[in-house]
Amino acid sequence: MSNGFLLVYLAGGAYQKRPLQTTNTASYRIGVLGSGKGSNFVALAEACRAGTIPGQIVFVGSDVAGAGILARAAEMGLPNTHLAPGPYRTKLDEAAEASYIAALQVARVDLVVLAGFMRILKGAFLRAFPQRVINIHPSLLPSFPGLEAWRQALDRGVKVTGCTVHFVDEGIDSGPIIGQEAVSVRDGDTVATLHERIQNAERRLYPAVVAALAQGRVRVEGGRVQGFSVQTQETT
Ligand code: GRF
Repeated sequence: MSNGFLLVYLAGGAYQKRPLQTTNTASYRIGVLGSGKGSNFVALAEACRAGTIPGQIVFVGSDVAGAGILARAAEMGLPNTHLAPGPYRTKLDEAAEASYIAALQVARVDLVVLAGFMRILKGAFLRAFPQRVINIHPSLLPSFPGLEAWRQALDRGVKVTGCTVHFVDEGIDSGPIIGQEAVSVRDGDTVATLHERIQNAERRLYPAVVAALAQGRVRVEGGRVQGFSVQTQETT
């Protein structure tokens, strides 16, 4: 946003009138990592464009060459990179981890957003971005951590599930919870219908949480997010 002008001295003695940045809304720099189709990434990128997240996505990375998230980023004109993950299936090897850290550092990210990134990040990665890595999980944590949480919820017969955005720590889906959206389990729900409604919730919740982080409204004390929580609501 600008509401004034600055006279900038140019080589050759000329001056140019440039808008004065009074509110530097795009200064918060977001890196996104994902392995899949990228629907959460798109929701975040659209929220940045609309200004509801006062920040910009400066890096999109994937461990999967040809992942949808990279194609969506390219379509939106955002920097996107495949970074080889190394030989393991569920984590990065040391060299790969170093390349992910370096790429995000070069992009000078303030926040690392995991959006369907299917590898566990630990140790060196988390130390490189302390309390700066967040994840979205398709259940109301601490219920149903791990894979296919919507299926776990349906199998267990819970009446309410949802999604959770949390800081990433050394555990699995265990870091401080920042925000949650509840999703009712309906009679006749299948794995597919429940999963779809949870994903709709994710696309509301994630931008709301990232906006709050960009605005500096999230504080962690004693391992918990204090004095603040984001709760969005199922509308249909
Ligand atoms: C999301 O549903 C999220 O719950 C999980 O991975 C999925 C990624 O989907 N962590 P997308 O790639 O954002 O569409």
